[in-house]
Amino acid sequence: INTLLICGGGGSEHEVSLRTADFIERHLEPCDDIDLMRVEMDGRGRLRDSEGTTWHLGQDRRLRSGDDEREIHYVVPAIHGYPGETGDLQSLLELYGIPYFGCGPEASKICFNKISTKLWLSALGIDNTPYQFLCSNESEETSKASMALEEWGEIFIKASNQGSSVGCYKVTSAEELPAALEQAFELSPYVLAEKSLRVRELEVAAYTYDGMLVITPPGEVCAPSDTFYSYEEKYNEGSRAVTHVEAEGLSEAQLGWIHEASRKAFIGLQLKDLSRIDFFLTDDGEIYLNEVNTFPGMTPISMFPKMMENAGHDFGAYLSNRIRAAVK
Ligand code: ADP
Ligand code: DAL
Ligand code: MG
Repeated sequence: INTLLICGGGGSEHEVSLRTADFIERHLEPCDDIDLMRVEMDGRGRLRDSEGTTWHLGQDRRLRSGDDEREIHYVVPAIHGYPGETGDLQSLLELYGIPYFGCGPEASKICFNKISTKLWLSALGIDNTPYQFLCSNESEETSKASMALEEWGEIFIKASNQGSSVGCYKVTSAEELPAALEQAFELSPYVLAEKSLRVRELEVAAYTYDGMLVITPPGEVCAPSDTFYSYEEKYNEGSRAVTHVEAEGLSEAQLGWIHEASRKAFIGLQLKDLSRIDFFLTDDGEIYLNEVNTFPGMTPISMFPKMMENAGHDFGAYLSNRIRAAVK
């Protein structure tokens, strides 16, 4: 089964995606029937292999470079952000009729955008963090952020279409607001001003296994107390963030709430194969669903593969299973 692992992409998480692809390459079970080929996509959608050769994927499902060609039976779109997690690549694969790993175009698009995620979560009756929606950096819009800051004391300004904490700024004073808005609007046409909460950050891996939906017990990410779970704390050397594959001290009711909200989100958003669903547990004991990651990171700090392993499921065996099931 000729399987194409596509990584990189045109977004700010290009480098993170390469680390995810490293994990997938390392963990896919060595087997005779699956031939994995890795290509990196650049910002213009061009595909290059590790030798620098450029390949083109055609509508006839063939990957070509000069006279060299091979049929592609399955794609693993291991891209965080555009054009993978945004659903664009999946739309193309649907058009070409090539089966692929992970969520479809619609679910990907909805979940990658922080505003549409919230609208869908609310429609599904799942609590999420209070926010204001800003559609331009003009004063009538930004006054909503100023009012939010006044009311909530501390806010997060977030570009709506980024991940890995890119375009996400904690704002604690009116002086910090214009720069945060400026940077967020540089990245995205829509921006959120979200109430900042003192939280424990909990995450579950949710995936279908043998036709059943598995939702792992929540793991926990602890960012250092003087910052949040920023890009630097996620990926840079010297990160002080600590992760626990199973969060301690949660009540049965809290575990039940998280499980039920994850189930509702997975089913309601029509997710496919895998996702990592992230929650905030506030000091007051409230739980909010923060976000749904349709292609979660698989870097050394990332929780998805660890939580899956903790639930007794090996990612590599799982993926080869999905590939075989899709192609047979
Ligand atoms: P991304 O999709 O880039 O991961 P998130 O919405 O998850 O964006 O925000 C990144 C990080 O910022 C979170 O993991 C958390 O540490 C912090 N954060 C985001 N929103 C809030 C909030 N409302 N209250 C407290 N911390 C937050
Ligand atoms: N967007 C990153 C890769 C994650 O949430 O894991
Ligand atoms: Mg996040």
